[in-house]
Amino acid sequence: MPSQFSIVIIDRDKQSRDAITSTLKPYTDSITLAGSVDNFSDGALVIQKAAPNVVILGIDDIEQGIKDVQFITLKHPRVSVIACSSEKNVEWFLSIMRAGAVEYLLRPIGQEELKQSLQKVGRLLLPTPVEEMPAGEIISVYNPIGGMGTTTVAVNLAAALAEEGTKVALVDLNLEAGDVNTFLNVNPTYTLSSVTSNTERLDANFLMSVMTRHPSGPFVLTEPLEVDEAVSIRPEQVRRVLELLRGIFSYVIVDCVGQLAGCNMAIFESSDQILFTTTLSLPALKNTKRYLCAMERKGFGKDTVKLIINRYHPKSDIQLKDAEKVLARSVYQSIPNEYLDAVNSINKGTPVVKLTPRSPISKAIQALADRLKQ
Ligand SMILES: Nc1ncnc2c1ncn2[C@@H]1O[C@H](COP(=O)(O)OP(=O)(O)O)[C@@H](O)[C@H]1O
Ligand SMILES: [Mg+2]
Repeated sequence: MPSQFSIVIIDRDKQSRDAITSTLKPYTDSITLAGSVDNFSDGALVIQKAAPNVVILGIDDIEQGIKDVQFITLKHPRVSVIACSSEKNVEWFLSIMRAGAVEYLLRPIGQEELKQSLQKVGRLLLPTPVEEMPAGEIISVYNPIGGMGTTTVAVNLAAALAEEGTKVALVDLNLEAGDVNTFLNVNPTYTLSSVTSNTERLDANFLMSVMTRHPSGPFVLTEPLEVDEAVSIRPEQVRRVLELLRGIFSYVIVDCVGQLAGCNMAIFESSDQILFTTTLSLPALKNTKRYLCAMERKGFGKDTVKLIINRYHPKSDIQLKDAEKVLARSVYQSIPNEYLDAVNSINKGTPVVKLTPRSPISKAIQALADRLKQ
């Protein structure tokens, strides 16, 4: 497992390769140049062998460029692709970004520009001294029973917060039946249990190496594939993982469900905010009332626990103000009921905020993200 940040350069243009190499020179402490080649087939072999964190890919032909970016991001989801090209065309930029690149830089790449892109890619490169790095915020999205939209909120909130290079982790701690993988159509090789079964190696570098970056922005850490693996995850391991993630990411979004005990208590104790997500049906509200009271008794009160009303319909029998009265809480954010947008998003494996940014769901989630950022 490389403790250093490693880069592969694939570019036909020798001048461009040399310029990048010399830009990277001052950082040999933290960056390894794992390879620099002038054609894609050699590049693919080097990537396979060296498993770099970043590939800087020269693009001279748009069709081929799209194919190459897709090839890398599909085959090596943990690799971030920085595209570089001499072509200023917006269409090129958009297609290459849509294909999965994290950056599109113009040749010749300036030193500062490359440094910023690498920082944005953010895999512990040029690390900020620990004391300067503000601790990230842990936000858990919770409903004890499920079926209320916690995964929908978690996945979309993570994607919304990950705009503009903000580093976001999305952790599926629904230990029995997590479905973040399904929502994002990913099938990671490494899961939470590969982290917790290697406790002695559990540090920030190791965590980053097992997380997969989803094209919608967040880095994803998901549930064990086997049901019985979940049992082996202990609350103190959950706490450790979350605290490490807090040191790497600006936001750590946790999807969780189930009783107020065990791992869930560890999650809540680490959380800066808990988004209690429910709907406006009578049984859901009854349960919400019970759980909000129980959480308050355990020390998670109004300051930490925020009420999210999902699948809201303005014409429903129960109105937001009724819920606020019954629960003695104000609604932090309501999210409209838009069945098709929600379902299409799951079918496409892309968060609603990315797939249909104009959907009322996306607008509500964006508002939630903006509020949480304040
Ligand atoms: N705002 C919404 N509008 C319409 N359908 C929604 C909305 N939020 C969630 N859903 C749908 O409700 C179902 C349950 O959502 P999910 O996020 O999986 O809940 P949970 O994680 O609490 O079990 C999913 O089919 C999802 O598409
Ligand atoms: Mg769920």
